[in-house]
Amino acid sequence: MRVLGIETSCDETAAAVIDWSSKDSRARVLSDVVHTQAALHARFGGVVPELASRDHLQRALPVVDEALTLAGVSLAQLDGISVTRGPGLVGALLVGVQLARGLALGAGKPLVGVNHLEGHLLAALLSENAPRLPFLGLVVSGGHTSLYDVRGFGDIHALGHTLDDAAGEAFDKAAKLLGLPYPGGAHIDRLARTGDKAAHAFPRGLARRSRLQLDFSFSGLKTALLVHVQAHGVPDGQALADLCASYQEAICDALTSRALRAAEQLRASRLVVCGGVAANSRLRALAEERSARAGLELYLPDVKLCTDNGAMIAVAGAHRLARGESDSQVLADPGWRL
Ligand code: KG4
Ligand code: ZN
Repeated sequence: MRVLGIETSCDETAAAVIDWSSKDSRARVLSDVVHTQAALHARFGGVVPELASRDHLQRALPVVDEALTLAGVSLAQLDGISVTRGPGLVGALLVGVQLARGLALGAGKPLVGVNHLEGHLLAALLSENAPRLPFLGLVVSGGHTSLYDVRGFGDIHALGHTLDDAAGEAFDKAAKLLGLPYPGGAHIDRLARTGDKAAHAFPRGLARRSRLQLDFSFSGLKTALLVHVQAHGVPDGQALADLCASYQEAICDALTSRALRAAEQLRASRLVVCGGVAANSRLRALAEERSARAGLELYLPDVKLCTDNGAMIAVAGAHRLARGESDSQVLADPGWRL
């Protein structure tokens, strides 16, 4: 099946065409076009929803057009269209949903609306080294930090969520406080490489909660950094590197310890870490170290598959289209929980 995936839930306008085989659930990416709005939002230090919607409106059609051209596939040759229905910014979602509805109606193709987080989880299936289902999935991005039990296609169960900030948000807000450019996660990652992660003892959120708990919290960590900066100012040189490394360690420790705890509880044998924060070098190293010790198979998709893209939305739609699902009246659902 050739499926077009369209993603506009936040600040990336993305479209991709994949070739999906329902026999072995494997997919080949024929094209994958992403236009990022990062530069547009940089001077505000965060995504401005109205600017995001307007930019999606300008970019969506050209991005879809380019994805079809690069794949060498016409609208008429598609077997279906998949679009992100939620969660995300309502105005941003509406652009993708309405465009997908128009294309599906015009070309007479089946349409499905999919959950953005299901897309992140199933993006792992596009890797060279794709995991088999079931697996445990940790989604860590700028907007989400959640653990899921992925038992099968369309059979995904939430195990835990962040109670406040997402991990990416905790990185970006810290970076802003430290005077680093937006989005700051990658800058903290870079500075932390030469820092001492044991220089500061930052809190691990919810550490005193029951051992069964699988939620996350990063607001106390953020406050601890703020209090530190208010008392000592923003450091530079080695002291800045040490601060970044210690802060990053608190996030990565919380993420990996919760994921490992879930694996133990579920007796899972495979762990997938995905979402933009999965690009973090310390998170990758710590996940590898702890998974190896626990005998867990770890899957870390390429960074390109971890950040928002259309291919992951196409995969999340493909298995639904293959089962004959279709909804020509798809509606955006900004608060949709997976
Ligand atoms: O998945 P994504 O592209 O967009 C959302 O759906 O949110 O994730 C973006 C987030 C941002 O918060 C960014 O700072 C973070 O991923 N990020 C990183 C790194 N690269 C991107 N965080 C930590 N270390 C990195 N190397
Ligand atoms: Zn995302």
